[in-house]
Amino acid sequence: MIIGGDGYCGWATALHLSKRGYAVSIVDNLCRRSMDDQLGFNSLSPIKGIHERVRKWKEVSGRDIDLFVGDVCDYEFLGAAFKKFAPTACVHFGEQRSAPYSMMDRTRAVFTQTNNVMGTINVLYAIKEFAPECHCIKLGTMGEYGTPNIDIEEGYITITHNGRTDTLPYPKQGGSFYHLSKCHDSANMLFCTKAWGIRTTDLNQGVVYGLSTDETDMHPDLVNRLDYDAVFGTALNRFCIQAAVGHPMTVYGKGGQTRGFLNIRDTVRCIQIACDNPAPPGEMKIYNQFTEQFSVNELAAMITEAGKKVGLNPEVITVPNPRTEMEEHYYNAKNSKLQDLGLEPIAMRGEFLEGLLKQIITYKDRVDQRLILPGVNWKESASVAEVIAK
Ligand SMILES: NC(=O)c1ccc[n+]([C@@H]2O[C@H](COP(=O)([O-])OP(=O)(O)OC[C@H]3O[C@@H](n4cnc5c(N)ncnc54)[C@H](O)[C@@H]3O)[C@@H](O)[C@H]2O)c1
Repeated sequence: MIIGGDGYCGWATALHLSKRGYAVSIVDNLCRRSMDDQLGFNSLSPIKGIHERVRKWKEVSGRDIDLFVGDVCDYEFLGAAFKKFAPTACVHFGEQRSAPYSMMDRTRAVFTQTNNVMGTINVLYAIKEFAPECHCIKLGTMGEYGTPNIDIEEGYITITHNGRTDTLPYPKQGGSFYHLSKCHDSANMLFCTKAWGIRTTDLNQGVVYGLSTDETDMHPDLVNRLDYDAVFGTALNRFCIQAAVGHPMTVYGKGGQTRGFLNIRDTVRCIQIACDNPAPPGEMKIYNQFTEQFSVNELAAMITEAGKKVGLNPEVITVPNPRTEMEEHYYNAKNSKLQDLGLEPIAMRGEFLEGLLKQIITYKDRVDQRLILPGVNWKESASVAEVIAK
């Protein structure tokens, strides 16, 4: 069961698993599409509606995907979906996933935490009540850890304090109401795992980039979404789109902000690895799901180099940082567990970036340049009325 299966990571994952013979269902309330409608955004790639997508997949692959359109915060709906599909693994992508969206105003901060935290509690209860053997694979983010001045471990850290030693959850320091919703999810999951003896895996995912997977490339109607606006667009995808349309890449502040990244093709393989290696009952596995780490300045430099090779002339500008974050800091996060289980990472450098830029150039007429500049300032988090008036 792929919750959030109409979204960027979820759609690619649903097709990847379906192609490999897993019986797949998608649960999604399509709220991501209505957020675009509310705010006047669009995916760079022309995505089809979810029913059309699923029909096309059946036509192209011969494989069915069961579709449940509804909200995981609606327990009656979720329970009915669990009873009908009886999942052995439930991959939970279905959350509001933008930090800037969560910082727009009070209403969206509350929506983000209610939607994400309540939704996850409902998923945990649905497993307990309807499918106690089901493995819950939940998407968290590397952003939960913040940027501590020590190495970031994979989920747990062994600490010796006043002569006693224990292995404890690694400290979390979310940098937005969105990231904090994920920290709360992790705490709730760990509690339920121990209290009810269920199987859970928490994936602290890095920033995902790229558009294609083998399956989404099988037909134009299966194309994935690609966000470039300042609210939902993530760093590398946004920079590539800026470079492709001749807009300078907008580096926030000093550009030393360093994060973990991974290709969407690696995301889908990591989820398959997690599905194939269920946690034992009562244990929450935690993996750091990223393959390489880069600073924002390094990203801009790599795109500049790749852009020149495909006939572009990328430029970089510094814009005031709308976020509250450290712009120069120590960052060294561990990420060996998924590789130990067989992940062979795809590198960002080289031909990949040139390919992505070429793909983006084919959609360049769809870009609305007004959506490119940063729009949400952490310190000015305002009321809804003010934001709409802007
Ligand atoms: N994209 C990234 O770079 C990235 C990085 C780290 C972690 N993540 C996490 O991975 C997950 C998927 O991210 P994405 O980029 O695919 O996001 P996305 O917004 O494209 O997809 C999320 C999907 O979940 C659905 N959804 C949201 N709330 C729901 C609810 N209450 N009930 C049912 N469906 C609901 C949305 O309609 C959407 O289709 C998120 O949890 C996100 O926090 C993403």
